[in-house]
Amino acid sequence: MLGPVFLAASHSSGIRRAVSAAPVSRAVVDRFVAGERLDPCLRTVRSLTARGLDVTLDHLGEGITSRAEAERNRDAYLALARALSAEGLGERAEMSVKLSAFGQALVGGDDVAYANVLPVVEAAAEAGTTVTLDMEDHTTADSTFGVLDALRERFPQTGAVVQSYLFRTEDDCRRLADQGVRVRLVKGAYKEPPGVAYQHKHEVDRAYVRCLKILLAGEGYPMIGTHDPRMIAIAEELVHRFGRGHGDYEFQMLYGMREMEQLRLAAEGHRMRVYVPYGTDWYGYFMRRLAERPANVGFFLRSLAGRH
Ligand code: FDA
Repeated sequence: MLGPVFLAASHSSGIRRAVSAAPVSRAVVDRFVAGERLDPCLRTVRSLTARGLDVTLDHLGEGITSRAEAERNRDAYLALARALSAEGLGERAEMSVKLSAFGQALVGGDDVAYANVLPVVEAAAEAGTTVTLDMEDHTTADSTFGVLDALRERFPQTGAVVQSYLFRTEDDCRRLADQGVRVRLVKGAYKEPPGVAYQHKHEVDRAYVRCLKILLAGEGYPMIGTHDPRMIAIAEELVHRFGRGHGDYEFQMLYGMREMEQLRLAAEGHRMRVYVPYGTDWYGYFMRRLAERPANVGFFLRSLAGRH
């Protein structure tokens, strides 16, 4: 299993330098990342929306260590919100943020992250769109839900992410579903210990379906984030069974993954949103994608061997 190796590598600054400098990296990264700057990313967004897909944009950055970096990330999102507004994309494009890019791990992190993300949420509302708070490793969950609650007092459309691999998540789903929150359900992408998370795929999958039922039965807006054909087939059946119509839920997938399936779901009348990351700080995101899927690793290794 190479997954844990790539997850460990995602924290190594030495490997980060080597991979980032490798001449082949850029072409490989481009498969999962829509450019380093906003302009090429917006071109991708236009092409996706023209094909009937909605998007959520992620300006890459995570685990920053200074307030100045947090403010730079905030400013990048403010520029993004301005661009979405100028392009009239508010109805089709929302934004995803990682609070660790906004200062969550700094001293007084909850307050720092809240102070930096609030202007972004305000700018999103002005642009006619909203923000979803990505979920990172389990140690950040309480803090992230705390910031979510504070943001939702003025911006109730702010969304959350829950990870079915965590034992706590069914309870979180019940609470968020009761509160009518927009919730993206995913399996989870971090290396978590057995004390807090299921370790086997079949357990994570079963928990995913249990969480999905809770969200679909609740008051909120479920966002079904998966590429897994089994989870998608079950979800297609469940949205029907729970009487959810178009606009009452959506599917989500990552940019560069299963494009034909994205188009199929959209053509069948489901709202389909693509998570589009862009920016220079792609390393951690890229490593998690390699960790997730052996085929992605094969693509990476073939490119290193000069076959891409
Ligand atoms: P999984 O990786 O278990 O794959 C199951 C099966 O699906 C595979 O065996 C294969 O058959 C098929 N499959 C998967 N990928 C495929 C592909 N590219 N092509 C063909 N078949 C494929 N995580 C997190 O911790 N916090 C977060 O905030 C987010 N945010 C997020 C947003 C969105 C929109 C998505 C889709 C995902 C996330 N994630 C995330 C990542 C998530 O936690 C998870 O790591 C990945 O989605 C991988 O899990 P899957 O459910 O896709 O299936």
